[in-house]
Amino acid sequence: MSHADDHEGTRRDFLYYATAGAGAVATGAAVWPLVNQMNPSADVQALSSIRVDVGGVEPGTQLTVKWLGKPVFIRRRTPDEIEEARAVDVSALPDPVARNANLPDAEATDANRALDEQEEWLVMIGVCTHLGCVPLGDGAGDFNGWFCPCHGSHYDTAGRIRKGPAPENLAVPVAEFLDETTIKLG
Ligand code: FES
Repeated sequence: MSHADDHEGTRRDFLYYATAGAGAVATGAAVWPLVNQMNPSADVQALSSIRVDVGGVEPGTQLTVKWLGKPVFIRRRTPDEIEEARAVDVSALPDPVARNANLPDAEATDANRALDEQEEWLVMIGVCTHLGCVPLGDGAGDFNGWFCPCHGSHYDTAGRIRKGPAPENLAVPVAEFLDETTIKLG
């Protein structure tokens, strides 16, 4: 083999690999848009259901988590709060519907809004049903529950609208206890 042939061979090899390289880049470009299209749905799927550790939540306190872009209030109520919520005459409520995604069309009793049988846990979307402000919690307002300062809506200890312009009770999302300290939203 002459020195010239040797050189040519090397050059051909170089061209071959360069072409293969370009092919690989082209393949990569074709694959990426597919992967990018898949990413959002994978993200949304992961977020549409979340688990919340409520092991550290004491009675009389609440946790606010962000879920699907909205605040969700998870409150562990005191016996007094539960008692107050149970004592209310549902037929006298401005909104007599539970607004609980787990119990469509149920009436707004405390049992139909609380998450557990002891009615200790209340999980609600923290968005005022009037125009969407985030109400203040921890016993706020005239009914010791939540108060929306935007236009003065008062919610009771079960998150039911009692006074002010909000038309509906705070919404209860699909939720369940997976074990003693884990709540799954969605
Ligand atoms: S947004 Fe809550 S009272 Fe208007």
